[in-house]
Amino acid sequence: MCGIVAAAAQRDVAPLLIAGLKALEYRGYDSAGLAVLEGGEVHRVRAKGKVREMESLYLSNPFPGGTGIAHTRWATHGVPNEANAHPHMIGRITLVHNGIIENYAPLRAQLQAKGYHFTSETDTEVMAALIDQNLSGGRGLREAVLATVRDLEGAYAIAVISSEEPGRVVGARRGAPLLVGLGIGENFLGSDAQALVQVTNRIIYLEDDDVVEITREGAQIYTLDGKPAHRGVHESELSADAVERGEYRHYMQKEIFEQPHAVANTLETRISAAGVLPNIFGAGGDELLAKVKGVHIVACGTSYHAGMVAKYWLEDYARLPVNVEVASEYRYRETVVPPGTLFIAISQSGETADTLAAMRESRRRGYLGTLAICNVPESSVTREADLKLMTHAGPEIGVASTKAFTTQLAALALLTLHLAKQQGLDEERYRDLTEQLLRLPRTLEEALKLEPQVIELAERFVHRHHALFLGRGEHYPVALEGSLKLKEISYIHAEAYPAGELKHGPLALVDEDMPVIAVAPNGPLLDKLKSNLQEVRARGGELIVFADTNAHIDGNATRGAVLRIDAGGDFISPVVLTIPLQLLAYHVAVLRGTDVDQPRNLAKSVTVE
Ligand code: F6R
Repeated sequence: MCGIVAAAAQRDVAPLLIAGLKALEYRGYDSAGLAVLEGGEVHRVRAKGKVREMESLYLSNPFPGGTGIAHTRWATHGVPNEANAHPHMIGRITLVHNGIIENYAPLRAQLQAKGYHFTSETDTEVMAALIDQNLSGGRGLREAVLATVRDLEGAYAIAVISSEEPGRVVGARRGAPLLVGLGIGENFLGSDAQALVQVTNRIIYLEDDDVVEITREGAQIYTLDGKPAHRGVHESELSADAVERGEYRHYMQKEIFEQPHAVANTLETRISAAGVLPNIFGAGGDELLAKVKGVHIVACGTSYHAGMVAKYWLEDYARLPVNVEVASEYRYRETVVPPGTLFIAISQSGETADTLAAMRESRRRGYLGTLAICNVPESSVTREADLKLMTHAGPEIGVASTKAFTTQLAALALLTLHLAKQQGLDEERYRDLTEQLLRLPRTLEEALKLEPQVIELAERFVHRHHALFLGRGEHYPVALEGSLKLKEISYIHAEAYPAGELKHGPLALVDEDMPVIAVAPNGPLLDKLKSNLQEVRARGGELIVFADTNAHIDGNATRGAVLRIDAGGDFISPVVLTIPLQLLAYHVAVLRGTDVDQPRNLAKSVTVE
């Protein structure tokens, strides 16, 4: 899950490639590099760390050239250092790669026996050597790439140049994203449309096993057997502003504050005061959903937490049995699929390797159909699903997911209402849930006003090493999401438990050094939660409670703090109570001085297994 940009143009492309890489840093930021071909000579610059490290090296010694490839890396084979940074050069070939080549070890041994010498630990260098070898026998770059990818096992998106073919870049993809950007008198390749938004909105999405050749004049696509292929041109709706940080200190903060608007976009044209509108899941959607007898939800990370909330909703309101599973588990075991089961994949990026593989695997298991809940149109998950409900959150740049999560919940709430009505939910209750959902953007806006109080609270966490998060019912996944946010951006070790589980083990961890953060909606479980909180209090633990305004919690009796928040009703409260937890994680990370938007060791789009 690295990022790739490439260009064939008349103007010097290095600055364009660097701008494209910056937009792709969400895919990885362990090292960056670029190579430009000028008059048969390849100039290359690489550096460990972020794109800006490589950029300053480039600026200290810039080079011209209209054909180039560039890469930002998330390390898989080999540590993040300059030698392992892309582009890799062997013989006549210079190459960037996103993905993992599974059979690289035997290929490497064969190539070494033939005299190739490798200077990195990467699987990518092996691919470059194979292409170089395949250039012999009068083959051009495109034929050599075609011959090479036929021998590869695994996932890849690549962009390749040859010192013998100026003005030409060849790309290929299988299981990792790559698209073509069509400019005027210049053409591009990129891992996503965001990388190319500065230069073009005209996009061709490549399919698995496509090989593409770009020059200044055009782009020609070929299938694996070398036959020309036609793929449609799409107008991307992304604008350069959508990926600007504006007045905010970090993208994550901007994205937290965008949530009322983003959720309003998810709901727009899909729900009115009378309820969920027909046909919001795409052609044939309502007919297919009418046959649903159960649901399996598969996702990773934050998207998995959204799926967990949906399990409570769908079972409570639609009375349908639901299983939720992380994609990396689901794909490698045999599940039991009762007749009439709908498969739902939830993914912000739509390119998460495990989720995509799980969805492909589900085809074999006899589901009624597949539904994608996704933020990226034309992503692999979106394109391969039978039905789709786009979240319309807009680009999410911060590695820690925020608006993607709440918009996924909004989309899942729409699905819940649709299925609840179909399953005969009481009309008055249906109206109440609809009203709550329609109020959600405004309720989120109010919740964001808690920021100053959360900033004060964040001070208490700066020197902490651990934290516990508690929630019950559909607020247990909210606690999980809060703990994930805190650990990934502040590096504080955090765990989440259903509050009733505390006494079965984790209570042993509670002492005066262990902050315990609880989410307390008003509802039938409040008294139970209060008893769980007493257990913490009795052990001297510091309690931080985010409580619904009308939940009776005695602030004075708490060593810690109770922050009040209007949760907006029992249906939408998991979405609303997520907000203070996001803000807490964000402000703790800011105070600890971590790299909030690009936390260590992570990447936004996990396109490797
Ligand atoms: C955490 C986070 C990840 C993603 C996960 C799935 O903040 O962002 O846990 O949720 O990698 O990604 P998508 O939703 O793109 O499939």
